Amino acid sequence: MDLWETFGSRQSAIGERPILALFEDTNRAKDFSVETQHMRFDYAKTNIDRDTRADLIALAEAAGVAAKREAMFRGKKINETEGRAVLHTALRNLDGGPVVVDGQDVMPGVRVTLRRMRKFAEKVRAGVITDVVNIGIGGSDLGPAMAVAALAPYHDGPRCHFVSNVDGAHIADTLRGLDARTTLVIVASKTFTTIETMTNARTARAWMQDHGGDTKKQFAALSTALDKTAAFGIDADQVFGFEDWVGGRYSMWGPIGLSLMIAIGPDAFDVFLRGAQAMDTHFRAAAPLENMPIMLALVGIWHNQFCDYATRAVLPYDQRLSLLPAYFQQLEMESNGKRVSMDGAEVPYHTGPVVWGAAGTNGQHAFYQLIHQGTRVIPCEFMVAANGHEPELAHHHHLLMANCLAQSEALMRGRPLAQARRMMEGKGLSGDELERQARHRVFPGNRPSTTLVYERLDPFTLGQIIALYEHRVFVEGVILGINSYDQWGVELGKELATSLQPVIAGAQSTEGKDSSTAALVDYLLRHRDG
Ligand code: F6P
Repeated sequence: MDLWETFGSRQSAIGERPILALFEDTNRAKDFSVETQHMRFDYAKTNIDRDTRADLIALAEAAGVAAKREAMFRGKKINETEGRAVLHTALRNLDGGPVVVDGQDVMPGVRVTLRRMRKFAEKVRAGVITDVVNIGIGGSDLGPAMAVAALAPYHDGPRCHFVSNVDGAHIADTLRGLDARTTLVIVASKTFTTIETMTNARTARAWMQDHGGDTKKQFAALSTALDKTAAFGIDADQVFGFEDWVGGRYSMWGPIGLSLMIAIGPDAFDVFLRGAQAMDTHFRAAAPLENMPIMLALVGIWHNQFCDYATRAVLPYDQRLSLLPAYFQQLEMESNGKRVSMDGAEVPYHTGPVVWGAAGTNGQHAFYQLIHQGTRVIPCEFMVAANGHEPELAHHHHLLMANCLAQSEALMRGRPLAQARRMMEGKGLSGDELERQARHRVFPGNRPSTTLVYERLDPFTLGQIIALYEHRVFVEGVILGINSYDQWGVELGKELATSLQPVIAGAQSTEGKDSSTAALVDYLLRHRDG
Protein backbone atom coordinates (compact mmCIF):
# COMPACT_ATOMS: atom_id res chain seq x y z
CA MET A 1 0.00 0.00 0.00
CA ASP A 2 1.56 3.34 -0.96
CA LEU A 3 1.56 6.41 1.23
CA TRP A 4 -1.45 7.99 -0.48
CA GLU A 5 -3.49 4.86 0.26
CA THR A 6 -2.24 4.77 3.86
CA PHE A 7 -3.74 8.20 4.28
CA GLY A 8 -7.08 7.28 2.80
CA SER A 9 -7.45 4.56 5.42
CA ARG A 10 -6.09 6.74 8.22
CA GLN A 11 -8.60 9.43 7.40
CA SER A 12 -11.54 7.00 7.53
CA ALA A 13 -10.24 5.55 10.80
CA ILE A 14 -10.24 9.02 12.34
CA GLY A 15 -13.82 9.50 11.25
CA GLU A 16 -15.65 11.81 13.59
CA ARG A 17 -13.05 11.82 16.35
CA PRO A 18 -13.36 15.12 18.21
CA ILE A 19 -10.34 17.37 17.81
CA LEU A 20 -10.87 18.29 21.46
CA ALA A 21 -10.07 14.72 22.47
CA LEU A 22 -6.53 15.23 21.18
CA PHE A 23 -6.02 17.82 23.92
CA GLU A 24 -5.95 15.02 26.50
CA ASP A 25 -2.30 15.06 25.48
CA THR A 26 -1.18 17.94 27.68
CA ASN A 27 1.72 18.72 25.35
CA ARG A 28 -0.58 19.13 22.36
CA ALA A 29 -0.29 22.92 22.01
CA LYS A 30 3.48 22.89 22.35
CA ASP A 31 4.08 19.88 20.14
CA PHE A 32 1.67 20.91 17.40
CA SER A 33 3.07 24.36 16.82
CA VAL A 34 6.23 25.82 15.26
CA GLU A 35 8.01 29.01 16.23
CA THR A 36 10.40 31.13 14.18
CA GLN A 37 11.60 34.68 14.82
CA HIS A 38 8.64 36.78 16.00
CA MET A 39 6.01 34.22 14.90
CA ARG A 40 4.19 31.11 16.07
CA PHE A 41 2.15 28.78 13.88
CA ASP A 42 -0.33 26.61 15.79
CA TYR A 43 -1.98 23.62 14.14
CA ALA A 44 -3.12 21.92 17.35
CA LYS A 45 -6.78 22.60 16.49
CA THR A 46 -6.74 20.13 13.58
CA ASN A 47 -7.47 16.43 13.63
CA ILE A 48 -3.84 15.59 12.94
CA ASP A 49 -2.41 13.24 15.56
CA ARG A 50 1.18 12.11 15.99
CA ASP A 51 0.85 9.07 13.70
CA THR A 52 -0.83 11.05 10.95
CA ARG A 53 1.80 13.71 11.21
CA ALA A 54 4.57 11.13 10.96
CA ASP A 55 2.93 9.74 7.80
CA LEU A 56 2.54 13.22 6.34
CA ILE A 57 6.21 13.92 6.92
CA ALA A 58 7.06 10.57 5.33
CA LEU A 59 4.93 11.58 2.35
CA ALA A 60 6.88 14.83 1.97
CA GLU A 61 10.15 12.94 2.25
CA ALA A 62 9.08 10.32 -0.27
CA ALA A 63 8.08 13.11 -2.68
CA GLY A 64 11.64 14.45 -2.46
CA VAL A 65 10.82 17.82 -0.91
CA ALA A 66 14.34 18.27 0.50
CA ALA A 67 16.12 17.56 -2.79
CA LYS A 68 13.70 19.68 -4.82
CA ARG A 69 14.01 22.53 -2.33
CA GLU A 70 17.76 22.53 -2.84
CA ALA A 71 17.27 22.35 -6.59
CA MET A 72 15.06 25.45 -6.42
CA PHE A 73 17.44 27.48 -4.24
CA ARG A 74 20.40 26.46 -6.41
CA GLY A 75 18.81 27.70 -9.61
CA LYS A 76 18.00 24.37 -11.27
CA LYS A 77 15.31 24.62 -13.94
CA ILE A 78 12.49 23.16 -11.88
CA ASN A 79 9.85 24.96 -13.96
CA GLU A 80 10.18 22.26 -16.57
CA THR A 81 7.34 23.23 -18.88
CA GLU A 82 8.90 26.64 -19.45
CA GLY A 83 12.52 25.52 -19.05
CA ARG A 84 13.15 28.07 -16.31
CA ALA A 85 14.73 28.29 -12.91
CA VAL A 86 12.55 29.49 -10.01
CA LEU A 87 14.58 32.05 -8.15
CA HIS A 88 12.47 34.64 -6.40
CA THR A 89 14.61 33.66 -3.40
CA ALA A 90 17.65 35.17 -5.16
CA LEU A 91 15.96 38.60 -5.04
CA ARG A 92 16.16 38.55 -1.23
CA ASN A 93 19.42 36.66 -0.90
CA LEU A 94 21.02 39.71 0.71
CA ASP A 95 23.54 37.81 2.80
CA GLY A 96 23.86 34.61 0.80
CA GLY A 97 26.38 33.37 -1.68
CA PRO A 98 26.26 33.05 -5.45
CA VAL A 99 23.28 31.58 -7.25
CA VAL A 100 24.20 30.10 -10.57
CA VAL A 101 21.90 29.81 -13.58
CA ASP A 102 23.32 28.54 -16.89
CA GLY A 103 26.84 28.80 -15.47
CA GLN A 104 26.44 32.42 -14.38
CA ASP A 105 26.06 33.91 -10.92
CA VAL A 106 22.86 35.98 -11.00
CA MET A 107 23.56 37.80 -7.73
CA PRO A 108 25.69 40.67 -9.10
CA GLY A 109 22.84 41.59 -11.47
CA VAL A 110 20.29 41.39 -8.64
CA ARG A 111 22.40 43.73 -6.51
CA VAL A 112 22.91 46.25 -9.33
CA THR A 113 19.16 46.41 -9.96
CA LEU A 114 18.42 46.79 -6.25
CA ARG A 115 20.90 49.67 -6.02
CA ARG A 116 19.33 51.35 -9.07
CA MET A 117 15.85 50.93 -7.59
CA ARG A 118 17.10 52.42 -4.32
CA LYS A 119 18.58 55.45 -6.06
CA PHE A 120 15.45 55.99 -8.12
CA ALA A 121 13.16 55.58 -5.10
CA GLU A 122 15.21 58.06 -3.08
CA LYS A 123 15.05 60.57 -5.92
CA VAL A 124 11.27 60.18 -6.24
CA ARG A 125 10.76 60.46 -2.48
CA ALA A 126 12.87 63.60 -2.32
CA GLY A 127 11.30 65.25 -5.36
CA VAL A 128 8.01 66.78 -6.39
CA ILE A 129 6.08 63.56 -6.99
CA THR A 130 2.96 63.40 -4.85
CA ASP A 131 1.34 60.31 -6.35
CA VAL A 132 2.57 57.04 -7.82
CA VAL A 133 0.28 55.02 -10.08
CA ASN A 134 1.34 51.39 -10.52
CA ILE A 135 -0.25 49.92 -13.63
CA GLY A 136 -0.09 46.12 -13.66
CA ILE A 137 -2.27 43.08 -13.12
CA GLY A 138 -2.02 39.74 -11.32
CA GLY A 139 1.45 39.36 -9.88
CA SER A 140 2.41 42.80 -11.15
CA ASP A 141 -0.31 44.37 -9.03
CA LEU A 142 -1.48 42.23 -6.13
CA GLY A 143 1.86 41.99 -4.32
CA PRO A 144 2.75 45.68 -4.12
CA ALA A 145 -0.91 46.69 -3.62
CA MET A 146 -1.27 44.25 -0.73
CA ALA A 147 2.08 45.21 0.83
CA VAL A 148 1.55 48.98 0.56
CA ALA A 149 -1.77 48.56 2.40
CA ALA A 150 -0.21 46.20 4.94
CA LEU A 151 2.63 48.57 5.77
CA ALA A 152 0.62 51.79 5.97
CA PRO A 153 2.24 52.79 9.30
CA TYR A 154 5.63 52.80 7.54
CA HIS A 155 4.40 54.70 4.48
CA ASP A 156 6.17 58.06 4.41
CA GLY A 157 6.60 58.49 0.65
CA PRO A 158 4.17 59.68 -2.04
CA ARG A 159 0.64 58.27 -2.14
CA CYS A 160 0.38 55.01 -4.12
CA HIS A 161 -2.46 53.92 -6.38
CA PHE A 162 -2.89 50.63 -8.21
CA VAL A 163 -4.67 50.24 -11.52
CA SER A 164 -5.19 46.71 -12.80
CA ASN A 165 -8.59 46.19 -14.43
CA VAL A 166 -9.01 46.89 -18.15
CA ASP A 167 -12.40 48.31 -17.18
CA GLY A 168 -11.89 51.99 -17.95
CA ALA A 169 -13.63 52.77 -14.67
CA HIS A 170 -10.50 51.74 -12.81
CA ILE A 171 -8.06 54.10 -14.45
CA ALA A 172 -10.64 56.89 -14.77
CA ASP A 173 -11.48 56.77 -11.07
CA THR A 174 -7.79 56.64 -10.17
CA LEU A 175 -6.56 59.49 -12.36
CA ARG A 176 -9.46 61.76 -11.51
CA GLY A 177 -8.15 64.23 -8.96
CA LEU A 178 -4.45 63.48 -9.61
CA ASP A 179 -2.10 66.16 -10.89
CA ALA A 180 -0.41 64.93 -14.07
CA ARG A 181 2.58 67.18 -13.33
CA THR A 182 3.34 65.48 -10.01
CA THR A 183 2.34 61.90 -10.77
CA LEU A 184 4.75 59.06 -11.53
CA VAL A 185 3.33 56.20 -13.60
CA ILE A 186 4.99 52.82 -13.19
CA VAL A 187 4.12 50.28 -15.87
CA ALA A 188 4.64 46.89 -14.25
CA SER A 189 4.52 43.91 -16.57
CA LYS A 190 6.87 40.98 -16.75
CA THR A 191 6.01 40.36 -20.38
CA PHE A 192 5.02 43.91 -21.35
CA THR A 193 2.34 42.42 -23.57
CA THR A 194 -0.54 41.97 -21.13
CA ILE A 195 -3.51 43.61 -22.80
CA GLU A 196 -4.98 45.14 -19.63
CA THR A 197 -1.71 46.72 -18.59
CA MET A 198 -0.75 48.00 -22.02
CA THR A 199 -4.21 49.47 -22.57
CA ASN A 200 -4.10 51.24 -19.19
CA ALA A 201 -0.52 52.40 -19.82
CA ARG A 202 -1.49 54.03 -23.13
CA THR A 203 -4.48 55.72 -21.48
CA ALA A 204 -2.25 57.04 -18.67
CA ARG A 205 0.28 58.30 -21.19
CA ALA A 206 -2.38 60.20 -23.13
CA TRP A 207 -3.73 61.65 -19.86
CA MET A 208 -0.28 62.82 -18.85
CA GLN A 209 0.39 64.37 -22.27
CA ASP A 210 -2.96 66.15 -22.19
CA HIS A 211 -2.53 67.48 -18.67
CA GLY A 212 0.93 68.96 -18.74
CA GLY A 213 2.97 66.05 -17.40
CA ASP A 214 6.32 64.96 -18.79
CA THR A 215 6.01 61.36 -19.96
CA LYS A 216 9.77 61.09 -20.38
CA LYS A 217 10.50 61.86 -16.74
CA GLN A 218 7.31 60.57 -15.20
CA PHE A 219 7.06 57.07 -16.67
CA ALA A 220 8.99 54.08 -15.37
CA ALA A 221 8.77 50.43 -16.38
CA LEU A 222 9.36 47.11 -14.61
CA SER A 223 9.75 44.21 -16.99
CA THR A 224 11.83 41.37 -18.42
CA ALA A 225 11.15 42.66 -21.95
CA LEU A 226 13.54 45.58 -22.37
CA ASP A 227 12.98 45.78 -26.12
CA LYS A 228 9.28 46.34 -25.49
CA THR A 229 9.77 48.97 -22.76
CA ALA A 230 12.04 50.83 -25.20
CA ALA A 231 9.50 50.53 -28.00
CA PHE A 232 6.89 52.02 -25.64
CA GLY A 233 9.23 54.97 -25.26
CA ILE A 234 10.31 54.59 -21.66
CA ASP A 235 13.75 55.96 -20.90
CA ALA A 236 16.24 53.14 -20.17
CA ASP A 237 17.28 54.94 -16.97
CA GLN A 238 13.77 54.46 -15.66
CA VAL A 239 13.46 50.82 -16.64
CA PHE A 240 14.14 48.13 -14.05
CA GLY A 241 14.61 44.73 -15.59
CA PHE A 242 14.39 41.26 -14.20
CA GLU A 243 14.87 37.76 -15.50
CA ASP A 244 12.48 35.03 -16.57
CA TRP A 245 13.37 33.04 -13.44
CA VAL A 246 11.11 35.34 -11.43
CA GLY A 247 7.49 34.19 -11.72
CA GLY A 248 4.83 36.94 -11.87
CA ARG A 249 3.14 35.94 -8.60
CA TYR A 250 6.54 35.69 -6.89
CA SER A 251 7.90 38.97 -8.17
CA MET A 252 7.29 41.62 -5.52
CA TRP A 253 10.79 41.16 -4.07
CA GLY A 254 12.46 42.79 -7.07
CA PRO A 255 11.53 45.60 -9.48
CA ILE A 256 7.81 44.81 -9.22
CA GLY A 257 8.14 46.00 -5.62
CA LEU A 258 9.28 49.48 -6.72
CA SER A 259 6.04 51.21 -5.67
CA LEU A 260 6.38 49.63 -2.23
CA MET A 261 9.99 50.79 -2.01
CA ILE A 262 8.94 54.32 -2.91
CA ALA A 263 6.15 54.18 -0.33
CA ILE A 264 8.09 52.90 2.68
CA GLY A 265 11.62 53.85 1.64
CA PRO A 266 14.56 51.66 0.58
CA ASP A 267 15.68 50.89 4.13
CA ALA A 268 12.31 49.53 5.19
CA PHE A 269 12.13 47.63 1.87
CA ASP A 270 15.45 46.02 2.79
CA VAL A 271 13.97 44.92 6.11
CA PHE A 272 11.03 43.41 4.18
CA LEU A 273 13.52 41.44 2.05
CA ARG A 274 15.37 40.38 5.20
CA GLY A 275 12.16 38.97 6.66
CA ALA A 276 11.70 36.81 3.57
CA GLN A 277 15.36 35.85 3.63
CA ALA A 278 14.99 34.73 7.26
CA MET A 279 12.09 32.49 6.22
CA ASP A 280 14.18 31.11 3.33
CA THR A 281 17.00 30.22 5.71
CA HIS A 282 14.56 28.59 8.12
CA PHE A 283 12.83 26.65 5.32
CA ARG A 284 16.12 25.41 3.96
CA ALA A 285 17.60 24.34 7.30
CA ALA A 286 14.90 23.27 9.75
CA ALA A 287 13.92 19.62 10.16
CA PRO A 288 10.37 18.96 8.91
CA LEU A 289 8.79 18.96 12.36
CA GLU A 290 10.23 22.39 13.15
CA ASN A 291 9.81 23.68 9.63
CA MET A 292 6.95 26.18 9.42
CA PRO A 293 6.37 26.10 5.64
CA ILE A 294 6.54 22.29 5.59
CA MET A 295 4.07 21.90 8.46
CA LEU A 296 1.73 24.51 6.97
CA ALA A 297 1.85 22.60 3.68
CA LEU A 298 1.22 19.24 5.34
CA VAL A 299 -1.83 20.62 7.14
CA GLY A 300 -3.02 21.83 3.72
CA ILE A 301 -2.45 18.44 2.11
CA TRP A 302 -4.22 16.68 4.99
CA HIS A 303 -7.28 18.88 4.71
CA ASN A 304 -7.54 19.09 0.96
CA GLN A 305 -6.30 15.76 -0.34
CA PHE A 306 -7.25 13.43 2.52
CA CYS A 307 -10.19 15.04 4.28
CA ASP A 308 -11.52 16.28 0.92
CA TYR A 309 -12.21 19.81 2.14
CA ALA A 310 -12.33 21.63 -1.17
CA THR A 311 -11.63 25.16 0.03
CA ARG A 312 -9.66 26.94 2.70
CA ALA A 313 -10.28 30.35 4.18
CA VAL A 314 -7.49 32.84 4.90
CA LEU A 315 -8.70 35.03 7.76
CA PRO A 316 -6.25 37.72 8.86
CA TYR A 317 -7.48 39.60 11.91
CA ASP A 318 -5.59 42.57 10.63
CA GLN A 319 -7.41 45.18 8.59
CA ARG A 320 -4.21 46.15 6.80
CA LEU A 321 -4.00 42.58 5.48
CA SER A 322 -7.40 42.81 3.83
CA LEU A 323 -5.81 42.23 0.40
CA LEU A 324 -3.86 39.19 1.63
CA PRO A 325 -6.61 36.66 0.80
CA ALA A 326 -6.64 37.92 -2.81
CA TYR A 327 -2.86 37.81 -2.92
CA PHE A 328 -2.77 34.23 -1.61
CA GLN A 329 -5.56 33.32 -3.97
CA GLN A 330 -3.34 34.07 -6.96
CA LEU A 331 -0.24 32.64 -5.30
CA GLU A 332 -1.90 29.34 -4.47
CA MET A 333 -4.52 28.87 -7.16
CA GLU A 334 -2.37 29.93 -10.11
CA SER A 335 0.49 27.83 -8.76
CA ASN A 336 -1.26 24.63 -7.74
CA GLY A 337 -4.44 24.69 -9.80
CA LYS A 338 -3.11 22.05 -12.22
CA ARG A 339 -4.33 18.69 -13.43
CA VAL A 340 -1.30 16.88 -14.84
CA SER A 341 2.00 15.89 -13.29
CA MET A 342 5.38 16.98 -14.64
CA ASP A 343 5.33 14.13 -17.20
CA GLY A 344 1.90 15.13 -18.52
CA ALA A 345 -0.10 12.30 -16.90
CA GLU A 346 -3.38 13.23 -15.22
CA VAL A 347 -3.02 13.15 -11.45
CA PRO A 348 -5.43 10.75 -9.70
CA TYR A 349 -6.31 13.16 -6.87
CA HIS A 350 -7.43 16.73 -6.33
CA THR A 351 -4.72 19.38 -6.62
CA GLY A 352 -4.86 22.88 -5.10
CA PRO A 353 -7.91 23.93 -3.09
CA VAL A 354 -10.04 27.01 -3.61
CA VAL A 355 -8.49 29.77 -1.50
CA TRP A 356 -10.62 32.64 -0.30
CA GLY A 357 -11.19 34.81 2.73
CA ALA A 358 -11.44 38.30 4.16
CA ALA A 359 -10.16 40.27 7.09
CA GLY A 360 -11.60 39.59 10.53
CA THR A 361 -13.69 40.70 12.24
CA ASN A 362 -15.64 41.75 9.10
CA GLY A 363 -16.02 38.20 7.80
CA GLN A 364 -17.70 37.21 11.05
CA HIS A 365 -20.67 39.34 10.07
CA ALA A 366 -20.80 37.99 6.54
CA PHE A 367 -19.83 34.38 5.85
CA TYR A 368 -18.88 32.81 9.19
CA GLN A 369 -22.45 31.56 9.54
CA LEU A 370 -21.71 28.96 6.88
CA ILE A 371 -18.30 28.17 8.36
CA HIS A 372 -19.88 27.39 11.73
CA GLN A 373 -23.19 25.79 10.82
CA GLY A 374 -23.10 25.04 7.09
CA THR A 375 -22.86 21.48 5.79
CA ARG A 376 -19.34 21.86 4.38
CA VAL A 377 -16.19 21.89 6.45
CA ILE A 378 -13.89 24.82 5.66
CA PRO A 379 -10.48 24.75 7.29
CA CYS A 380 -9.70 28.26 8.49
CA GLU A 381 -6.29 29.90 8.64
CA PHE A 382 -6.43 32.63 11.26
CA MET A 383 -3.76 35.29 11.75
CA VAL A 384 -3.37 38.00 14.35
CA ALA A 385 -0.66 40.27 15.74
CA ALA A 386 0.13 40.69 19.44
CA ASN A 387 0.35 44.45 18.87
CA GLY A 388 -1.33 46.98 16.66
CA HIS A 389 0.27 50.23 15.59
CA GLU A 390 -2.18 52.39 17.53
CA PRO A 391 -1.21 52.21 21.21
CA GLU A 392 -3.91 54.72 22.02
CA LEU A 393 -6.45 52.22 20.64
CA ALA A 394 -5.17 49.17 22.51
CA HIS A 395 -8.73 48.28 23.55
CA HIS A 396 -9.59 47.80 19.85
CA HIS A 397 -6.70 45.44 19.51
CA HIS A 398 -7.72 43.46 22.57
CA LEU A 399 -11.14 42.95 21.02
CA LEU A 400 -9.54 41.92 17.73
CA MET A 401 -7.36 39.28 19.40
CA ALA A 402 -10.21 37.99 21.54
CA ASN A 403 -12.42 37.60 18.46
CA CYS A 404 -9.76 35.77 16.51
CA LEU A 405 -9.07 33.25 19.25
CA ALA A 406 -12.77 32.88 20.04
CA GLN A 407 -13.54 31.84 16.47
CA SER A 408 -11.04 28.99 16.38
CA GLU A 409 -12.25 27.81 19.77
CA ALA A 410 -15.90 27.97 18.72
CA LEU A 411 -15.15 26.05 15.53
CA MET A 412 -13.44 23.29 17.48
CA ARG A 413 -15.81 23.05 20.47
CA GLY A 414 -19.13 23.72 18.80
CA ARG A 415 -22.31 23.62 20.87
CA PRO A 416 -23.96 20.24 21.41
CA LEU A 417 -27.72 19.75 21.41
CA ALA A 418 -27.89 19.22 25.18
CA GLN A 419 -26.31 22.61 25.76
CA ALA A 420 -28.61 24.28 23.25
CA ARG A 421 -31.59 22.70 25.02
CA ARG A 422 -30.43 24.07 28.36
CA MET A 423 -30.13 27.53 26.79
CA MET A 424 -33.71 27.33 25.56
CA GLU A 425 -34.95 26.10 28.92
CA GLY A 426 -33.26 29.14 30.43
CA LYS A 427 -35.34 31.25 28.07
CA GLY A 428 -38.52 29.62 29.36
CA LEU A 429 -39.23 27.40 26.34
CA SER A 430 -40.50 23.86 26.63
CA GLY A 431 -41.84 20.96 24.59
CA ASP A 432 -41.72 20.99 20.79
CA GLU A 433 -40.86 24.67 20.60
CA LEU A 434 -37.83 24.15 22.85
CA GLU A 435 -36.69 21.25 20.69
CA ARG A 436 -37.17 23.17 17.45
CA GLN A 437 -35.36 26.28 18.66
CA ALA A 438 -32.55 24.29 20.25
CA ARG A 439 -31.71 22.56 16.96
CA HIS A 440 -31.12 25.87 15.24
CA ARG A 441 -28.62 26.74 17.95
CA VAL A 442 -26.48 23.64 17.62
CA PHE A 443 -22.93 24.07 16.32
CA PRO A 444 -21.44 20.77 15.13
CA GLY A 445 -17.93 21.84 16.13
CA ASN A 446 -14.93 19.67 15.34
CA ARG A 447 -14.02 22.09 12.55
CA PRO A 448 -10.29 22.51 12.02
CA SER A 449 -8.29 25.71 11.99
CA THR A 450 -4.72 26.92 12.27
CA THR A 451 -3.56 30.18 13.82
CA LEU A 452 -0.50 32.25 12.96
CA VAL A 453 0.37 34.78 15.64
CA TYR A 454 3.11 37.36 15.28
CA GLU A 455 4.43 40.25 17.30
CA ARG A 456 3.56 43.09 14.96
CA LEU A 457 2.84 43.58 11.26
CA ASP A 458 6.12 45.27 10.36
CA PRO A 459 8.16 44.97 7.15
CA PHE A 460 10.21 42.05 8.49
CA THR A 461 7.17 40.05 9.57
CA LEU A 462 5.29 40.74 6.35
CA GLY A 463 8.31 39.46 4.41
CA GLN A 464 8.30 36.33 6.56
CA ILE A 465 4.58 35.69 6.14
CA ILE A 466 4.67 36.00 2.34
CA ALA A 467 7.75 33.78 2.03
CA LEU A 468 6.11 31.26 4.40
CA TYR A 469 3.16 30.90 2.05
CA GLU A 470 5.36 30.82 -1.07
CA HIS A 471 7.24 27.86 0.38
CA ARG A 472 4.01 26.23 1.46
CA VAL A 473 2.87 26.32 -2.15
CA PHE A 474 6.19 24.81 -3.24
CA VAL A 475 5.95 21.91 -0.76
CA GLU A 476 2.34 21.16 -1.65
CA GLY A 477 3.24 21.28 -5.35
CA VAL A 478 6.11 18.82 -4.88
CA ILE A 479 3.90 16.40 -2.94
CA LEU A 480 1.24 16.65 -5.63
CA GLY A 481 3.87 16.11 -8.32
CA ILE A 482 2.78 19.14 -10.34
CA ASN A 483 4.58 22.18 -11.74
CA SER A 484 3.69 25.11 -9.46
CA TYR A 485 5.47 27.63 -11.65
CA ASP A 486 3.68 27.75 -14.98
CA GLN A 487 0.14 29.05 -15.65
CA TRP A 488 -1.03 27.66 -18.97
CA GLY A 489 -4.59 27.73 -17.66
CA VAL A 490 -4.84 31.47 -18.24
CA GLU A 491 -4.04 31.26 -21.95
CA LEU A 492 -7.21 29.96 -23.57
CA GLY A 493 -9.38 32.77 -22.23
CA LYS A 494 -6.85 35.32 -23.46
CA GLU A 495 -6.83 33.78 -26.95
CA LEU A 496 -10.61 33.77 -27.18
CA ALA A 497 -10.80 37.37 -25.93
CA THR A 498 -8.47 38.34 -28.77
CA SER A 499 -10.66 36.54 -31.30
CA LEU A 500 -13.82 38.16 -29.87
CA GLN A 501 -12.50 41.72 -30.08
CA PRO A 502 -13.37 42.24 -33.78
CA VAL A 503 -16.77 40.64 -33.16
CA ILE A 504 -17.50 43.05 -30.30
CA ALA A 505 -16.27 45.90 -32.49
CA GLY A 506 -18.86 44.84 -35.06
CA ALA A 507 -16.19 44.16 -37.68
CA GLN A 508 -16.74 40.40 -37.74
CA SER A 509 -19.79 38.18 -37.48
CA THR A 510 -20.48 35.66 -34.70
CA GLU A 511 -20.31 32.80 -37.18
CA GLY A 512 -18.63 29.79 -35.63
CA LYS A 513 -19.51 30.88 -32.10
CA ASP A 514 -21.90 28.82 -29.98
CA SER A 515 -25.46 30.14 -29.89
CA SER A 516 -25.15 31.33 -26.29
CA THR A 517 -22.09 33.48 -27.02
CA ALA A 518 -23.65 34.69 -30.27
CA ALA A 519 -26.86 35.72 -28.48
CA LEU A 520 -24.94 37.53 -25.75
CA VAL A 521 -22.89 39.42 -28.35
CA ASP A 522 -26.10 40.26 -30.17
CA TYR A 523 -27.72 41.63 -26.98
CA LEU A 524 -24.67 43.72 -26.09
CA LEU A 525 -24.38 45.19 -29.58
CA ARG A 526 -28.08 45.98 -29.80
CA HIS A 527 -28.08 47.73 -26.42
CA ARG A 528 -24.84 49.63 -26.84
CA ASP A 529 -25.12 53.42 -26.87
CA GLY A 530 -24.29 55.00 -30.22
O1 F6P B 1 -2.57 35.98 -16.78
C1 F6P B 1 -1.75 35.51 -15.77
C2 F6P B 1 -0.48 36.28 -15.64
O2 F6P B 1 0.43 35.83 -16.57
C3 F6P B 1 0.07 36.18 -14.24
O3 F6P B 1 0.78 35.03 -14.02
C4 F6P B 1 0.84 37.43 -14.15
O4 F6P B 1 1.14 37.75 -12.81
C5 F6P B 1 -0.08 38.41 -14.81
O5 F6P B 1 -0.67 37.67 -15.85
C6 F6P B 1 0.54 39.65 -15.34
O6 F6P B 1 1.53 39.37 -16.28
P1 F6P B 1 2.58 40.47 -16.72
O7 F6P B 1 3.37 40.86 -15.51
O8 F6P B 1 3.42 39.82 -17.77
O9 F6P B 1 1.83 41.64 -17.25
